[in-house]
Amino acid sequence: MKISVVGTGYVGLVTGVTLSEIGHQVICLDVDTLKIKMLRNGQSPIYEPGLEDLLRKNINDGNIWFTSSSTQAFADSEVIFIAVGTPANHDGTANLFYLEQAVIEIAKNIKKRQIIVTKSTVPVGTNQYIKKLIEKYTTVEFDIVSNPEFLREGSAIYDMFHGDRIVIGSELDEAAAIIGQLYKPLKIPIYKTDIRSAEMIKYASNAFLATKISFINEIANLCDKVGANVEAVSYGMGLDQRIGNQFLQAGIGYGGSCFPKDTKALVQLAGNVKHEFELLKAVIDVNNKQQMLLVEKVKKRITSLLHKNIAVLGLSFKPNTDDMREAASLVIIEELVKQGATVIAYDPVAIDEAKKYLPTEVVYAKSIETAIIDADVVLILTEWEEIKSFNLHQYKALMKKAVIFDGRNCYSLPEAERAGVEYYSVGRPLVM
Ligand code: UGA
Repeated sequence: MKISVVGTGYVGLVTGVTLSEIGHQVICLDVDTLKIKMLRNGQSPIYEPGLEDLLRKNINDGNIWFTSSSTQAFADSEVIFIAVGTPANHDGTANLFYLEQAVIEIAKNIKKRQIIVTKSTVPVGTNQYIKKLIEKYTTVEFDIVSNPEFLREGSAIYDMFHGDRIVIGSELDEAAAIIGQLYKPLKIPIYKTDIRSAEMIKYASNAFLATKISFINEIANLCDKVGANVEAVSYGMGLDQRIGNQFLQAGIGYGGSCFPKDTKALVQLAGNVKHEFELLKAVIDVNNKQQMLLVEKVKKRITSLLHKNIAVLGLSFKPNTDDMREAASLVIIEELVKQGATVIAYDPVAIDEAKKYLPTEVVYAKSIETAIIDADVVLILTEWEEIKSFNLHQYKALMKKAVIFDGRNCYSLPEAERAGVEYYSVGRPLVM
């Protein structure tokens, strides 16, 4: 099939590259000419494991192209995927500006019947609005399909090939069948439904996962107070298949470009129809508090942060990505700097990205060792493999006194005991 993808962010690019890999002819459009230049040279503008190899392979095989020209992008297409960002406005509502721009460009440039597929996360009712908007600009016939994405950053390529489901929302069975056919080589179960339900599935899924995280974080905070171990608790809970063992990892709260934005947007969406989504508001509240709890613990231990050397290991909102959007590290580091601490930060890939967001006072280290040397305290904020496998004895050797606050429960308690470090984690007993 001849496919156009609008937007080369992580969703658009991963979708485009995967569709080219499974036998389609794909052209990706982006207004950012610099990005297009990089992509044509086989360079991925984002860090996503496996993406660049697949990109280069399909460029060489002549399956994927990149352009900044709308005329070129839609000249030959049969299906158009919209994968532009829908960031949060100040009030939490989804900002549809990029989506509207993309839709108008599509409407002005299509010449023959098309299926227009929305991958961007959009509030319920948006696809209907898109339809009306397109009709304003063209008389060419088209169908609208909602096809939300469930890709996790850092494992987006894997998820694209091994997803649990593909959701297709459509008014027309024929359009849904064509999109189903397009995905067939992936051999992933397809669920066809109406457009509004498809739009809601996306928000409800992210909100539910965020709820699981806030729930286990509350349990962890309770475990801290009653002397239980959240690791054992979430393992024991997860054995019940109705609960499942995923997304029960306690820590410093969820971040990234999706959960914080989508939970707020769903609360707003509910508010628009006079529905108070109390549960989800609490989920958001718990998450905001969770990020600061680690700083509270540090303050309790060392009294004042003024002129203390604090090493921060891990900056990105989760491992295997350089994405810093809504990372817990941003809030935590800002507070540390505000309280007069000297922050020495290390991350395996996100330092360049982090520099755009973090206070200028932050010092960056080139390795874990250089970050922790002579530090008063270490904070672990992202569970990168490199950080998890760093030998605990090294802290003892390199720090004045090895005091570790682990916001991601990277080490086992017996390991910490054997190494003789002072080890604070989330929802697990203190090791002294
Ligand atoms: C999330 C969803 O998992 C995807 O299904 C969805 O497609 C995507 O949002 C999106 O809407 O585009 P992502 O934000 O990439 O994916 O990352 P997750 O792996 O879901 O992690 C989100 C945050 O939750 C991270 O900060 C992570 O550290 C945290 N988390 C996750 C926990 O604190 N505990 C857990 O048990 C799991």
